[in-house]
Amino acid sequence: MVCINMIKSAAAQCHSVTAMALSTLHLTVLCFALLLCLIGGAQTEVPPSCLASAGVPGNPGHNGLPGRDGRDGKDGREGVSGSKGDRGDPGVPVPGLPGKMGPAGPKGSKGENGVMEIPESADVLMKSLKTDIQTMGSRLSTVEKAMGFRIIRRVGMKYYVTEGLQDDFDAGLRFCRDAGGDLVLPKNEEENNVLVKMLQVLEAPIGWIRTTDRKTEGIFLDTDNSTLSFTKWKPGEPNDHNNNEDCSMVYTATGLWNDILCDRKYHIVCEIS
Ligand SMILES: *[C@@H]1O[C@H](CO)[C@@H](O)[C@H](O)[C@H]1NC(C)=O
Repeated sequence: MVCINMIKSAAAQCHSVTAMALSTLHLTVLCFALLLCLIGGAQTEVPPSCLASAGVPGNPGHNGLPGRDGRDGKDGREGVSGSKGDRGDPGVPVPGLPGKMGPAGPKGSKGENGVMEIPESADVLMKSLKTDIQTMGSRLSTVEKAMGFRIIRRVGMKYYVTEGLQDDFDAGLRFCRDAGGDLVLPKNEEENNVLVKMLQVLEAPIGWIRTTDRKTEGIFLDTDNSTLSFTKWKPGEPNDHNNNEDCSMVYTATGLWNDILCDRKYHIVCEIS
């Protein structure tokens, strides 16, 4: 409608325009606008005579809608380097893992022959220990032999032992030697007392002791033919009664010794040392 009114306005002015002194430019602009109206499809009859006349310029149109956002621009230039930062906190020391083992070094030259040297104190100590061990072994062996008997009494470094058996002198010797000991022969008062007490326990009035005068009549010796260091003969003994008493025994009641026939059967007490 704006276009049609514009054309009508232009056409109305056409008759008098010729006389009016409009500039050629003014006329060109008006007719160009008219042409645009015609191209836009306006159905109107334009006087052919108007094409040459110029109209008055219309009012400016309203502002259009804002356009769409444009594309991103190009990257800007690189900025200036910043100032140096503050020094960081000291780190916590953590030991690293051990490195791999390096290759073996070259073999060293052979050293001079050393001198075997055992300190004096160590040598003395070793000898002392060796002696102690041998002593303990010997004592243990003695104790083990004694352990096999029913009645055991310790006297000094010896053990007096018995099973309460009765037999003749030579059977008594064998029995005790088979047990790793020997028929008893007291070497002092204490040992004699211990023997007497053991016979009391066995309720035996008499026990054998290991001494005879078989080698030389009248001279009582140990069975290894050694002389006696201790004796406790009953007064008047040994008397070799009937020229037949070569063996010896002890009376439980008194602890005194007497020579007697070897084939008698008395209690057997052994000593183990
Ligand atoms: C003891 O003496 C007798 C007679 O001389 C002898 O037969 C015996 O072998 C001797 N015993 C020991 C252990 O030396």
